[in-house]
Amino acid sequence: MKRFLSGIQPSGLPHLGNWFGAMAMHLELAREGEAYWFIADLHALTTVKDAAKLREMTREVAVSYLAMGLDPERTCFWRQSDVPEVTEVAWLLGTVSGMGLLERGHSYKDKVAQGLTPSVGLFYYPVLMAADIICFDADEVPVGKDQIQHVEFAQDMAGAFDAVYGPTFKRPEWRLSKTPKVSGLDGQKMSKSYGNALWIFEEGKALTKGIGRLPTDSRAPSEPKDPDGMLIFEWLKLLIPADEYEALATRAREGGDKGPGYGELKKRIACAMDELFGAGREERKKLLAHPEHVERVLASGAERARSAARAVRDRAYKACGLR
Ligand code: ADP
Ligand code: TRP
Repeated sequence: MKRFLSGIQPSGLPHLGNWFGAMAMHLELAREGEAYWFIADLHALTTVKDAAKLREMTREVAVSYLAMGLDPERTCFWRQSDVPEVTEVAWLLGTVSGMGLLERGHSYKDKVAQGLTPSVGLFYYPVLMAADIICFDADEVPVGKDQIQHVEFAQDMAGAFDAVYGPTFKRPEWRLSKTPKVSGLDGQKMSKSYGNALWIFEEGKALTKGIGRLPTDSRAPSEPKDPDGMLIFEWLKLLIPADEYEALATRAREGGDKGPGYGELKKRIACAMDELFGAGREERKKLLAHPEHVERVLASGAERARSAARAVRDRAYKACGLR
């Protein structure tokens, strides 16, 4: 059975892009193989400098995954900082990795270009991420496009260690999400930082208001339209069954009496969001009222994760002469 592993940045409430680009795939992979998901709170320290905010966002990620159906019996789910073995292995990897490798990191360069302080931690970020992956003998790492280079760095670092000390680590592969880009309300990639997101746990008036912001044009329902490239249809394609989507797209292409109006399409989006996330929204409220339950899940995940990571750390310590 394949072992999947991925880290989730604690970056707040999930939007439709996070759901289709990452969360849905994580939940699906957990049914296909062994799933190891963790909340990357140590990585978050490179950008978040507010303790209360970090705590809150970490809890929010945990609650979101549990509310949407993560099964902690099947999936090992923990907080990165609860497994210190990973930081120990990161040090070992740092000692065999060239500066040149990290200097090629485009995520680091992008973040600095955006104005983030180029701290040592930000530069070292890929080494910790490589240790995250290698410490659990992961076969495949589901990631967004921007993280592929980091998984390739992990392959290079594992290879560099093995070249010096003999075969020790498993070489991980990356796996790209089936939906790498969901557009936001303004047509750009949906992102928390662009103010163009639709939040999956939003409901009622707030949800209708969010969907209402979806830009449309003044063409009448009877005017034939090409659904390809229209934002409203991109979202519908993700949210409703394929046969229903095809029927709506055909009505739009043909126009006339049966041409769908934007109001009807927006209502269908709201209704599909209720169907997909309604139960999760209720579950989330219950979990928020019982933080001790969430804490127990993470603590038990950390215990399992530590035992897996300890075995790999011991193997690596032995290989390089620390034991
Ligand atoms: P944001 O850009 O909103 O801050 P994150 O960087 O926290 O999102 O992304 C978390 C996960 O969600 C990543 O795996 C990322 O690839 C995925 N993701 C984020 N936005 C989108 C999007 N618009 N379409 C598809 N996947 C996305
Ligand atoms: N860097 C990843 C991101 O920003 C999060 C992450 C940390 C990760 N460690 C990881 C992803 C290990 C996959 C594997 O999304």
